[in-house]
Amino acid sequence: MTITEKIVKLKKEKKAVILAHNYQRPEIQDIADYVGDSIELSRKAMDEREAKMIVFSAVDFMAESAAILNPEKKVLLPSLGARCPMAQMLTVDEIKRWKVLYPLVPVVLYVNTLASAKAYCDVCCTSANALEVIESLNAETVLFGPDRNLAEHIQKKTGKTIIPIPEWGFCPTHLLFQPEDVQVLKMKYPDAVVMVHPECTFEMRDVADFIGSTSQMCRYAKEKNAKTFIVATEEGLLHRLRKDNPRKRFILAYEEAFCPNMKLNTLERLYVALKEEKYVVTVPESIARQARKALERMFELTN
Ligand code: 13P
Ligand code: SF4
Repeated sequence: MTITEKIVKLKKEKKAVILAHNYQRPEIQDIADYVGDSIELSRKAMDEREAKMIVFSAVDFMAESAAILNPEKKVLLPSLGARCPMAQMLTVDEIKRWKVLYPLVPVVLYVNTLASAKAYCDVCCTSANALEVIESLNAETVLFGPDRNLAEHIQKKTGKTIIPIPEWGFCPTHLLFQPEDVQVLKMKYPDAVVMVHPECTFEMRDVADFIGSTSQMCRYAKEKNAKTFIVATEEGLLHRLRKDNPRKRFILAYEEAFCPNMKLNTLERLYVALKEEKYVVTVPESIARQARKALERMFELTN
């Protein structure tokens, strides 16, 4: 049996579903039951009523959210080291420090945070719904973390005041993109449409034709009547874009744009995870209860 066949067999036997983020390796995306962005995967995790086990091929905070929303299911992360560095950038102590400075201001946290941080916020958001969440709050000022670039992107679109916490939070992978590289590609492909993730710097967002989450980019690329797209997000998304749009051309805006954390998940590790039922992601109930409220509020505000 090939490793793919072994995974399919085990998955059936154990009533498991495989959820994979858009940045996963092509062979993992192809074997997954569902591929999507962070909010789609959280919703999917809740919808999987029949499943006993969720194998979350992504990074720590996404698997944690699945565990928080599905306390009755076993949630597995195939690679223990798959930790998002941005999520580590906002500690509970830092949130508390800002809450002292702005006691009446709501805290909105990007889902790219650890459960312990989520437990201290009023509501979560993703890059796909951050604006909608913030606009729906009855507050003119908002503490927002940990991504400073996403905070600046939202600030440009809303009349409210967004205070980034910490002041410097970032995604190392999205900082790799530079507008000079886009200019060079544009010389070769002058009609190309430029799609940029909001975690990129403002210089990159300035050269974008479209700014959105990974799945918003997928929808835009499908609908947009263009042949060539320059893409500024982690390279894994190009597999899905090419699969969904075989007649269109997708070029990564920077060739080395890999998220090393996402890429720790391999087919072999996925197989071992299923076979040995590891690594189980658990969140203490006292934290999960609070974090669940923040995630559920996001769903309520954006439905
Ligand atoms: P999306 O919600 O757009 O999938 O982004 C998640 C992420 O980690 C981006 O770096
Ligand atoms: Fe975290 Fe950036 Fe990797 Fe997304 S791409 S998981 S934000 S390090």
